[in-house]
Amino acid sequence: MGNIILTGDRPTGPLHIGHYVGSLKNRVKLQNEGNYDEMYVFLADAQALTDNFDNPKKVKDNVLEVALDYLACGLDPEKVNIFIQSEVPELTELTFYYMNLVTISRLHRNPTVKEEIKLRGFEESIPAGFFTYPVSQTADITAFKANIVPVGDDQLPMLEQAREIVRKFNSIYGDTLVEPDALLPENENARRLVGIDGSSKMSKSLGNCIYLKDSEEEVKKKVFSMYTDPNHIRVEDPGKVEGNVVFTYLDVFCKKDSFKKYLPEYKSLDELKDHYRRGGLGDMKIKRFLNDVIEDELTPIRKRREELAKSPEKVYEILRKGTIKAGQKAKETLKEVKRAMMLNYFE
Ligand code: TRP
Repeated sequence: MGNIILTGDRPTGPLHIGHYVGSLKNRVKLQNEGNYDEMYVFLADAQALTDNFDNPKKVKDNVLEVALDYLACGLDPEKVNIFIQSEVPELTELTFYYMNLVTISRLHRNPTVKEEIKLRGFEESIPAGFFTYPVSQTADITAFKANIVPVGDDQLPMLEQAREIVRKFNSIYGDTLVEPDALLPENENARRLVGIDGSSKMSKSLGNCIYLKDSEEEVKKKVFSMYTDPNHIRVEDPGKVEGNVVFTYLDVFCKKDSFKKYLPEYKSLDELKDHYRRGGLGDMKIKRFLNDVIEDELTPIRKRREELAKSPEKVYEILRKGTIKAGQKAKETLKEVKRAMMLNYFE
């Protein structure tokens, strides 16, 4: 059997560089390697509504924002079906049937959902739609028979739950669905990129993000406000590299030719780190270098994004076409699922 790759994002805000290194970059790489039969990337607007049901405009507006981010990063609609979740109603129908295969206590044990419930102050009364979104996510994955799901490590519990539901389905109704595997980024720091404040994961709600749509000036301001080593006060002072956000980002963004291009007096990141540890290397210098290295990556993305943003109707047309194709595949799978469940009265 060939590979079917699928992943998606909740459109609740424009994407940031944490999304980029944690997943987007990997998707574009997978797309270009071409080692797959089908590839789907989608805007999980229905899932976004599970905790934003009172703010539909936010979700709607961000469908376009995230689609722009996708295309700007290099996802190619000729190779990848980009679609909108809510426009594929088969996913909702599958979710309803999968609900039978999961218990409330199992849903309570999902560590990502647990954390999200706390974050949103849902402890007292959890909306049922939000609580059960891992089941809907299983529908998203299985409707396309995806076996490879590129995600960040916060999504591992969803994949585990999806695999359990698939196994249960197949054991009761016969072999129908495919067990998916997560595909994590290789770089440890990229799996859960820390925010510019160094306190935790980069996240919109914490205001510690660099967005793909940020202007050059905004990026610069953010890089120069980054958390480094609070005890590294004078240039001569020895500095700490661990927990220093500038070095964490350099670990993620630095390329082989970055030094030659922007900091030729050093040969490698290790050399730069050693100097910082010894003392005599100032924060301004490493920040300027990081800004150059990040801009190397962001400038072309920003340019493409600005261009695409001028014609939203073209972006919607891409989404419409991708959604039609996705719908066809989901329809086929739903048919098989219903047949397996003996819900095929008129066949
Ligand atoms: N939960 C993902 C997020 O928070 C979005 C998502 C929905 C998803 N369905 C998916 C990811 C299926 C991978 C596969 O962004």
